[in-house]
Amino acid sequence: MREGDRNIDEARQGEAISVDTLAFAEDNNSVVQKKLYLESYGCAMNFSDSEIIASIMNNVGYTTTKDPQEADLILVNTCSIREKAEERVRNRLNEFKRYKKKNRQLVVGMLGCMAERLKESLLEQEMLVDLVVGPDAYRDLPSLVERVNGGQKAVNVLLSREETYAEISPIRLDSAGVTAFVSIMRGCDNMCSFCVVPFTRGRERSRDPESIVAEAKDLFEKGYREVTLLGQNVDSFKWNLDIKGKVKNPDLPVVRFAELLEMVAEVNPNLRVRFSTSHPKDMVDDVMHAMSRHENLCKYIHLPVQSGSSAMLKRMNRGYTREWYLNRISAIKEILPGCELSTDIITGFCGETQEEHDDTMTLLKEVGFIMAYNFKYSERPKTLAERKFEDDVPEEVKAARLSEVILHQRQYASELTKKMVGKVYRVLVEGPSKKSDEKYFGRTTHNIVMIFDKGDLKPCDYVNVRALACTTVTLLGEVTTDQADA
Ligand code: 5AD
Ligand code: SF4
Repeated sequence: MREGDRNIDEARQGEAISVDTLAFAEDNNSVVQKKLYLESYGCAMNFSDSEIIASIMNNVGYTTTKDPQEADLILVNTCSIREKAEERVRNRLNEFKRYKKKNRQLVVGMLGCMAERLKESLLEQEMLVDLVVGPDAYRDLPSLVERVNGGQKAVNVLLSREETYAEISPIRLDSAGVTAFVSIMRGCDNMCSFCVVPFTRGRERSRDPESIVAEAKDLFEKGYREVTLLGQNVDSFKWNLDIKGKVKNPDLPVVRFAELLEMVAEVNPNLRVRFSTSHPKDMVDDVMHAMSRHENLCKYIHLPVQSGSSAMLKRMNRGYTREWYLNRISAIKEILPGCELSTDIITGFCGETQEEHDDTMTLLKEVGFIMAYNFKYSERPKTLAERKFEDDVPEEVKAARLSEVILHQRQYASELTKKMVGKVYRVLVEGPSKKSDEKYFGRTTHNIVMIFDKGDLKPCDYVNVRALACTTVTLLGEVTTDQADA
């Protein structure tokens, strides 16, 4: 885990992130001041949703606390992507059950993907919580909490085709005021055969681009210097187009992802823009061209491949082949020379042969990713794979293949980082280094973490730093007045 990676990278590892900073609710005599403890698991999207949830609850008088023992309301925003993620949440909820014995008024709610997947069964069979709320029902939270306070259990797991929480102004949690997530779309229509997300987050829908730009502007005015645009498949962002690609209203502009990127980039050249997650089947050259036109569109793309075998990709229902993926990589390297890439890999998916695994290894070597997030396949209920295929790769084979991927990736990333030593990078200062009080950490456009002396700098500054040394994936450098190489 790289230093300071409190955002996507950390969230992707399924670590819990609890709230520590929050604005106070308006001083309004009609609202009761109560304490909310909010914990998030899973992807960056969940973390971003928690900021919307905090805002909704703040409006009815809840301020957050870091201490679950002093909370009136505990909300756990959950992830279902792998079995392990769910296990972790169950263990945590069992701990919260103990607090309920001490404080009978305490309300515990489960939100997010696990709530959507398990619905009423969480109340009826598992009896872990009082409240179950799916990802599209957060506006209903205040009235559901009220119902629980009145002595009933409450559930809302309705999925929506429209909800994007567009006009809700998120309360930034765990934020140092430098970088922020901005949700641009919700849901997923892709139906990758291993994935539970289409069942837990519903149909894909894009958020009004004007509200996205307004949020980015507001963040910049508040001093933030980086936004990460979030969606399950950002390349299929579309506004004013129907599912078949027909223009809905001829009097309004059509906005696809490439145009949206430029609109956000134009908010201010000093606002860095990142995005996640891209899908290889939808990533068109226009996106790369837009990135090449704006320096503040960071030269880093997370492009999950999952497997290097075309036969496997077909079983995974990914909608592309190995050749297609490599073609997209060639296009990126041609249009955006020097752009760094990261990916996701699943090892041991149904029927994976040794040759198919070897194909993944050769693809990893051919492309050269700065970072790879690697997972053992975990069968998820209701998915296409669960219904169609057997989860037949033995656990130890899944684990051995995962280790091989991790080992290769560590070696490759380390070599790549070494090659960066000597070069000068433009870095956005994010905050104090965890390892030294005298140092700051920041990130290059390629999302590489750099450590350097604090000097007169402060978070949100841009500074040129020459890399002098490195650890596996982190650069150690000194501030310079020399021109940046990247
Ligand atoms: N098992 C293992 N990994 C999974 N992912 C999604 N579903 C599963 C699953 N059932 C991984 C994919 C995806 C990332 C967010 O999680 O690699 O890109
Ligand atoms: Fe899941 Fe595939 Fe959608 Fe990603 S694109 S959320 S892996 S179904």
